[in-house]
Amino acid sequence: MPFPLESVRSSYPALSDGFAYLDGAAGTQTPDSVIDAVSAAYRAGLGNVGGAFPASHRADEIVAACRAAVADLVGGHPDGVVLGPNMTTLTYRLARALTGPGDEVVVSRLDHDANVRPWTQTGAAVRWAEVDPVTGELPVDQYAGLIGERTKVVAVTAASNILGTRPDLPAIAELAHRAGALLYVDGVHATPHGPVDMRALGADFYATSAYKWSGPHMGAVVADPVLLETVRPAKLRPSPDTVPERFETGTSAFADLAGVTAAVDHLAAMVPGSGTRRERLLASMAAAEEHELELFATMIAGLETMPHVTLHGKPARRTATAYFTVAGHTPRQVAEHLAGLGVNVWNGHNYAWELTGALGLRDSGGAVRAGLVHYNDHSDVTRLLEGVARLS
Ligand SMILES: Cc1ncc(COP(=O)(O)O)c(C=O)c1O
Repeated sequence: MPFPLESVRSSYPALSDGFAYLDGAAGTQTPDSVIDAVSAAYRAGLGNVGGAFPASHRADEIVAACRAAVADLVGGHPDGVVLGPNMTTLTYRLARALTGPGDEVVVSRLDHDANVRPWTQTGAAVRWAEVDPVTGELPVDQYAGLIGERTKVVAVTAASNILGTRPDLPAIAELAHRAGALLYVDGVHATPHGPVDMRALGADFYATSAYKWSGPHMGAVVADPVLLETVRPAKLRPSPDTVPERFETGTSAFADLAGVTAAVDHLAAMVPGSGTRRERLLASMAAAEEHELELFATMIAGLETMPHVTLHGKPARRTATAYFTVAGHTPRQVAEHLAGLGVNVWNGHNYAWELTGALGLRDSGGAVRAGLVHYNDHSDVTRLLEGVARLS
């Protein structure tokens, strides 16, 4: 099924401002249906959860609907969906609940720092998986030597937020599980770029952030509820001790959660289809991925022909995310030049702290990141290529 790009684009009001939004890896734009869902939640009258009156019941329903939606998106169970303000906050919380002194954790230099530092700061011993700085791959065979009987958690990304590298997670999961360790997958960058099946990936925990896939600024971590029953996070005395609620501190942003559900519904409906929401999501996200990768091939081919451009990493399996430097210009200068031409790209390390260190780019301002998501079109890519060509 071809991707209905024009109808998808028309649902995003921000895209009419004339900019080429190639900054999706730092946060996507939101469609009307999400904006409307957030405002409808407030307009209807919204109470806190667990009360005796209708406005409170509406909050209860919003939370339940949101858990079901996120579960559909990643292939999890609604009772295992932990909701929170963002992935970083949730990962800190889970890292403290899962590990501590006497344990070992394995982290990777491919990862965004949000899936590194929370694990290295609990007192557990840390072992590092290295990247190949030329290809940008995370070789799997090293994990056999890194995972041991004291390993509690292996934390690894489903996709690099700067190079797009998609590591072989099922193979890493197998090694982790054989040693009795848990696999904590950072799915923040991967989720918007194709269908997700956390069980097929071997993820015991799968973290994602709705603002990377057309939703509000919210995060979620999904796990098997049976596993969550075995974990006891720090919590207030009177707050619920049930799963998944005991992992959620304080009062949630209920209206935003209504927006998260609307974002999942939007993704499921991008490509017309029938079946359950999960089935429609799988079909829709597969079509979106195909569309992105086709545009990405044009983008990479264009950048590769430019002698003044150096592309970093060449992973075999990747999202549509390019990271490059331009001779004679700092990444910030390139981003400013492109912004002047109406093209939004990111510059810097993008919190891929260890990876930009391994690539030798961190101390010189990182590089330029141009990423595609489902709503990007050929003219976005052409404008990027024309803008970069002018810097030769
Ligand atoms: C791969 C990856 N992991 C984690 C994060 C952190 O997510 P959050 O902003 O929800 O804490 C980001 C944010 O850019 C990311 O790209």
